[in-house]
Amino acid sequence: MSGYRALNPRAKRVLAIIWLAGGVATLYSLVWPLLGGHRLSVTFALLLLIICTTVADLFPVTFEQGYEITVSNVFLIGAIMIYRDDPGQAAIVAIVSTLVWQLVNRRAWFKVLTNVALPTTAVVASSTVLNLVGWRDPAHLVIGTALMLLVYFLADTVPLTLLLASLDGRPFQVAYVSNYAGVVLELVGIEFFGLIFYIVWAESPWLSVLFVVPTVILRQAYFQVERLRNDSVRALAAISDVIENRDEMTHHHTQSVSTYARRVAERLRLSPDEIWQVTVAGQLHDLGKIAVRDDILFKPGALTDAEMELMRKHCHVGYDILRHFSNLEKVARLVRAHHERYDGRGYPDGIGGTQLPIGAAIVAVADAFDAMRSDRPYRKAMPMGRALDTLKKGLGTQWHPVVGATFVQLMLEDIDAQRSDPETVINPPNVAA
Ligand SMILES: [Fe+2]
Ligand SMILES: [Fe+2]
Repeated sequence: MSGYRALNPRAKRVLAIIWLAGGVATLYSLVWPLLGGHRLSVTFALLLLIICTTVADLFPVTFEQGYEITVSNVFLIGAIMIYRDDPGQAAIVAIVSTLVWQLVNRRAWFKVLTNVALPTTAVVASSTVLNLVGWRDPAHLVIGTALMLLVYFLADTVPLTLLLASLDGRPFQVAYVSNYAGVVLELVGIEFFGLIFYIVWAESPWLSVLFVVPTVILRQAYFQVERLRNDSVRALAAISDVIENRDEMTHHHTQSVSTYARRVAERLRLSPDEIWQVTVAGQLHDLGKIAVRDDILFKPGALTDAEMELMRKHCHVGYDILRHFSNLEKVARLVRAHHERYDGRGYPDGIGGTQLPIGAAIVAVADAFDAMRSDRPYRKAMPMGRALDTLKKGLGTQWHPVVGATFVQLMLEDIDAQRSDPETVINPPNVAA
């Protein structure tokens, strides 16, 4: 979202609904009671909740795939339960805390409005449900609380997904699953943590100050999991670089393949998870070359059948290394299949057509194109036009037709962009470029 004027009409309509809902929620829970003579008491409790929520909002955990979660929902759920008789107080916690981090991050006005409207609506809607069911006996309390958590979850995730789907033109269901499938347990866990926060608060608000400690630990746990995951990818990428740097000629190859692959995956509107897998697979596709002898890897002439057999093992070796990392199992499958062909005549498994994972088809095209465009010991780099012609000729046989056509389209767009602005650098430098 760069500027409000640049948004498409569908996104503007979604924004209008989000703002309207936020306005109604604020009016109903806060303004209307105040006009009716209701007094707003700024208590220690309210200040504590605002401070905790604001601090939590300021330190989100950003996942590599683009997800961002914060533990501020612990305190917002707590506020809903604490102020279940007076949703206006819980709305204030949402409004003030969100306003602070939006202003600290100097967001544009329409983003501030949206990011304030979303949690305010979620807090007021879920609080209203809890009030409607009531809590006069344990059965009502359990059902009311469960519904409150469900409504909060939906109000927290659905409008935002509607907005993101309208911005990138994806169907709602696709955007919803790809945005939240990977973090649903974390989000639900945070909501239940909020319930425990309320139980401690009910015992004593003073005691709940100590609850900041497990909340910080929870945030750090999510942070560490994400860091460990990234560390394993970074360590493997570093090994991959060492292998690549054995050969001056293939320097930058994995980075180029990774960048091409990510761009194609984005253009094909794959989910953030799949885009991440394809990007990492591009980076690690030749990791298995660690097991290929130098005299084969750097042979200036054509390989003999026996040497080719050894060279082809790099798909298996890469797969065998990566499959041991639980977060890289899918990446391992893409790496194994990066020399497969659409017509099933590739290696190591000879899979093709619909059996060929789309991520592997993407890496295959990116790999082949970058190899064509690079100098090799036994031949010079191919000119752009010929490389693109080769790709076009192999669509539906060597390469996945949609993936290959998308790649060619991207390259043609790059050429156009470079023609109109020669300063444009689209891909990282390539030895042949
Ligand atoms: Fe390879
Ligand atoms: Fe390669």
